Amino acid sequence: MQIQWYPGHMAKAKRMMQGDMKLIDVVIELVDARIPYSSKNPDIDVLAKNKSRVILLNKSDMADQRYNNDWKEYFETKGFHVALVNSKSGSGVKQVQDIVQKACQAKIERDRKRGILNRPVRAMIVGIPNVGKSTFINSFVGKASTKTGNKPGVTKGKQWIRLNKFIELLDTPGILWPKFEDQTVGLKLAFIGSINDTIINTTDLSLELILLLQQRYPEVLTNRYEVTLPEIVDSKQTAAGVLEQIAIKRSCLMKGGEPDLDRAAILLIDDFRSTKLGTITLEYPDKKI
Ligand code: G4P
Repeated sequence: MQIQWYPGHMAKAKRMMQGDMKLIDVVIELVDARIPYSSKNPDIDVLAKNKSRVILLNKSDMADQRYNNDWKEYFETKGFHVALVNSKSGSGVKQVQDIVQKACQAKIERDRKRGILNRPVRAMIVGIPNVGKSTFINSFVGKASTKTGNKPGVTKGKQWIRLNKFIELLDTPGILWPKFEDQTVGLKLAFIGSINDTIINTTDLSLELILLLQQRYPEVLTNRYEVTLPEIVDSKQTAAGVLEQIAIKRSCLMKGGEPDLDRAAILLIDDFRSTKLGTITLEYPDKKI
């Protein structure tokens, strides 16, 4: 399945972010803990050169707990400061302030030597659409903050949120686009719902999901739908057989009683996205597949 989706405003967003980079000390990048590789945009490494870097593995509640720490360690070995968070519940969000300060230690030290004390570090949140940027900002900022407004001369036109005396946050997150060139990346983004469903063939997508789940989590389909899987599910054709069984088990039937594969496909994808199939991670640090 070919996924092609190049939003027109991509270049403009990137230019804006380039401008904003000059104003900040640290970039806090959100990635989706279920697909940390596919939801991370390599452009940011270029844009944020020389900045302190923090990676938040967001939606960690939806990912397989067994791999969350592997990903954390992986990014740490690459030199990032990392935290596992669930922005929706707020779990893990509190530690982010300490992590940001640690990431900016060298800058704070430099300031101190130059006699600048207690200048807050300036941070920007970035990430691909739907990764949870707004949810994180709301959770991180809470009610305690105040908008500091424009700072004449320095940050013209920009709104900053003063979190406390240590951190100021640019109030508009930077939107990055995922790596569309790689089709397996596109598929994973589609599975988690980061690509507009209207440009995707849902039935085809569900077959791809069945193939991937069969490789990685062979028990989830039998557990949820009580289907009997063929010994080998390695082609669209065999996956379609599984989808047909799901349709029958879940009474997704057409008028004449034929299995309604399109409805079963939507059901399966919805179940995956709402973690009804379980907490699932679709790629691992060593393989990134
Ligand atoms: P964005 O600004 O990066 O585009 O993402 P946004 O915050 O709008 O979040 C996208 C969706 O992801 C929202 O769900 C949000 O609730 C959910 N979300 C964000 N962070 C987490 C997390 O850590 N864990 C879980 N489980 N969900 C998270 P929605 O369905 O679009 O909205 P809502 O029904 O939750 O309000």
